[in-house]
Amino acid sequence: MNTPRKSPRLYDDLAHLWPILSPPEDYTTDALTLRGLIEKHFAGSTDQRRSVLELGAGGGHTLVHLADDYDCTAVDLSEPMLANCRRLVPEVQTVAGDMRSVRLGKTFDAVFIHDAVDYMLNETEVRQAMETATAHLKPGGLCVIAPTYTRETFIDGEVADDGTATDSQELTYFSYVHDPDPADDTFEMILLYLIRENQTRSVEVIEDRHTCGLFSNDQWLTWMGDAGFDARHEEADAGDPGAGEEPWTLFVGIKT
Ligand SMILES: C[S@@+](CC[C@H](N)C(=O)[O-])C[C@H]1O[C@@H](n2cnc3c(N)ncnc32)[C@H](O)[C@@H]1O
Repeated sequence: MNTPRKSPRLYDDLAHLWPILSPPEDYTTDALTLRGLIEKHFAGSTDQRRSVLELGAGGGHTLVHLADDYDCTAVDLSEPMLANCRRLVPEVQTVAGDMRSVRLGKTFDAVFIHDAVDYMLNETEVRQAMETATAHLKPGGLCVIAPTYTRETFIDGEVADDGTATDSQELTYFSYVHDPDPADDTFEMILLYLIRENQTRSVEVIEDRHTCGLFSNDQWLTWMGDAGFDARHEEADAGDPGAGEEPWTLFVGIKT
């Protein structure tokens, strides 16, 4: 039995900020890559409509790019994030659940665990999430796991910032990732939100700390193999490579 996990504020009372902070357009390249993997994997087989499950699907920013062509199901721990998903892509079936333990009683052609896998904090939790993926895949089905960082790609002290405005508010945010203890398997992402109300000109500053898991390529591949996948490691374009973005690391498994 897993300890119930309290969501960071971004996925809880601040979930309304998610579509502004990390808009669906930011997921276009990733979704194209995932679509390419599905098309390649099932090429040559009968062209039935494929079913896709995303574990930790959040606001549906990846699924929105796939839902026209695949039957999509979104699982997430956070009800406010699933509400975002339903608003954005009503045709996606949403289910509240924990990727470490959820069982939907059905199987899919493909299962993705995208950036949400960052919230698996140790080997046991990663293995549980992989078991969930296996349990929901048809034989020969495709599993793609895409952590934001691996040990090999992590940049200690990386800073990012962005901002956006509506008629009533200006939102600026900073993210800072660091590894407080290289001896354990986690890193911390600190998010700062500055929300300015245009009418009153007041600025609220909110700090939101996320603890995330950090594992090596070899660990991901070994654990996927143990979970019943024929697994490989791929690098894909992340956003605009011309803008200096690092390639995106993916772990691709075929259920044996
Ligand atoms: C970065 S967001 C994912 C965004 C998503 N890729 C999208 O397209 O909007 C991370 C998500 O992981 C979810 N999450 C974290 N731990 C989880 C768990 N144990 N089971 C299911 N979802 C989880 C959070 O609730 C959050 O919605």
